[in-house]
Amino acid sequence: MSTIVLATQNPGKVAELRALLGGSQIHILGLGDIEDSFPEPEENGDTFLDNATIKAVAYAKATGRPCLADDSGLVIDALGGRPGVISSHYAFDGEIDEQAARLSRQQRDVRNIDRVLAELDEFEPEERTARFVCVMVLADSDGSILATSEGKFEGRIGLPIDHPHATPSDSVPRGSNGFGYDPIFLVGPDFIQTSAELDSKAKNAISHRGQAVRDMIEQIKTLSF
Ligand code: IMP
Repeated sequence: MSTIVLATQNPGKVAELRALLGGSQIHILGLGDIEDSFPEPEENGDTFLDNATIKAVAYAKATGRPCLADDSGLVIDALGGRPGVISSHYAFDGEIDEQAARLSRQQRDVRNIDRVLAELDEFEPEERTARFVCVMVLADSDGSILATSEGKFEGRIGLPIDHPHATPSDSVPRGSNGFGYDPIFLVGPDFIQTSAELDSKAKNAISHRGQAVRDMIEQIKTLSF
């Protein structure tokens, strides 16, 4: 049986990948399953592919095993592709400064959402097109790249509830599932529900991450380690 390290401390993500690989000869370990601790690489790439590669290569070399890493974020056309690779800390210009570090993930999400809504204030609903993107990279222990995959989840950023043109179906934030920008992301092609109103099964079936994971799994099944 081959072993792949998933570059995450999140046991939920490890369990999800194990379930998706059910029946195959691949064993998944999370970073938390390994006794040693490894330095966290700096994600300073310009693209999701750069950052996923940085993480996959760093942990593959450090653990001596093939390693799978992902990077994801929100791309808003009207903002020239921002927040992009700095999605998780957009309100802080991507800097994990002392102020950002003191806040919980939920508090940072609220600040990021407020910034996006403020920057889109002048834009009409049709101009608020956006997508979540997820890129996955599998690196071998020598740092070579074994496989890459990408998923895209198309939608639109809704209008703030107090916006003069907001209607019940396009006003945001709405919904309590998911994380990050889900409460303001209206899922295409209908733009009626936010991704925070989808349960995890429905979201995984269409999301950027679901697509990237499924594509990666198909590739992994054809590789021999
Ligand atoms: P990562 O952990 O570096 O991949 O950062 C991803 C960031 O992009 C998250 O912190 C969120 O702000 C945003 N993001 C990525 N995927 C999603 C999603 O499915 N829903 C909402 N926000 C997301």
